[in-house]
Amino acid sequence: MAEGPAARGDSSITTKELSKDYGSKERAVHALDHVNLHIPGGTVFGLLGPNGAGKTTLIKVLTGITDPTSGDATVAGFDIRRDPMEVKARIGWVAAEVILDDDFTARENLWLQAKLQNLTDWKPRAEDLLKYFSLQDRANDKVSHFSTGMRKKLEIALALLHQPTVIFMDEPTIGLDVTTRRMLWDIVTGVHKEFGVTVLLTSHYIEEADALCDRVAIIDQGKILAEGTPSELKARVKADIVQLETAQSIDPALLSKIPGVQDVHPQGNDWLVRVASSEEFLPVLFRTVDPNQIKRISVEKPSLETVFLDITGRRLGEDEPLRDVRKFYAQMRRARG
Ligand SMILES: Nc1ncnc2c1ncn2[C@@H]1O[C@H](COP(=O)(O)OP(=O)(O)O)[C@@H](O)[C@H]1O
Ligand SMILES: [Mg+2]
Repeated sequence: MAEGPAARGDSSITTKELSKDYGSKERAVHALDHVNLHIPGGTVFGLLGPNGAGKTTLIKVLTGITDPTSGDATVAGFDIRRDPMEVKARIGWVAAEVILDDDFTARENLWLQAKLQNLTDWKPRAEDLLKYFSLQDRANDKVSHFSTGMRKKLEIALALLHQPTVIFMDEPTIGLDVTTRRMLWDIVTGVHKEFGVTVLLTSHYIEEADALCDRVAIIDQGKILAEGTPSELKARVKADIVQLETAQSIDPALLSKIPGVQDVHPQGNDWLVRVASSEEFLPVLFRTVDPNQIKRISVEKPSLETVFLDITGRRLGEDEPLRDVRKFYAQMRRARG
């Protein structure tokens, strides 16, 4: 069933100054703001950004659901403005929201998809997909009886039915429990290898982008802030991020004059401190600032999260609880040796 992407032509995605505004001219929301991206064919590409960053809008523009305000894009070798039908024929889309018909069986859902897309000779392909996703034994069961994982598999099967070369997955794991999320990661990797498709997925889970994607672009407020392989992006931040909460406000100069401190970012009594090495910074910090003043502290080594934090001064993921002080002391003891 595997087909090399080379045999099926260009499966890359390129955008040039792609912009999308919503709302009136006077009060426009720049959902996409001059986006320039090149997504090589045959890769798994992650678009990582917080809610409202413009991820779904980019997918909607690239799939032809909505028109861009300005700029250009090609998908699978075709221009989204000039050849929208050629683009549509080559893309599959797994939406964030549910698209299955619960009253239909798995096989009927595939049939419905084939009708919607005017496909001929789709039946052998549908059977292959049912087999590939281990759904053949349940193919005549109503989808309402399916587990979340099975539903996801069927949604991906529907997206693959017309043999697209590019698949869009909008927040494919949102709302899934941890086990199903891991299973989906394996499915995405498997589908990518088996069918040779380019996968563009959006996520606001850092671990997901890190685990799954060959390349990642970080998007915020419609702008691409950084792009590269996960390790390239992490290498950009050659620093540890120390986050601390103090009982009272302290003089920022106390922190910034500690050797190795690159940046001090106060947020009330919360501080984000960029340091060359947390192991060297922490002992000096505790000599400089009265330890009773320090309520909480956490250290982060370079990750996609710290890349985002470093660029925007904000967190991408849900607020993680700061590591507690006891752990910090244990770390300090280890660091002192
Ligand atoms: N149909 C719409 N009308 C007006 N504003 C919209 C519409 N769709 C999205 N937006 C706005 O565009 C921005 C980007 O939204 P979206 O692409 O859905 O972000 P994401 O998928 O990253 O959460 C947000 O500010 C959102 O409120
Ligand atoms: Mg979205």
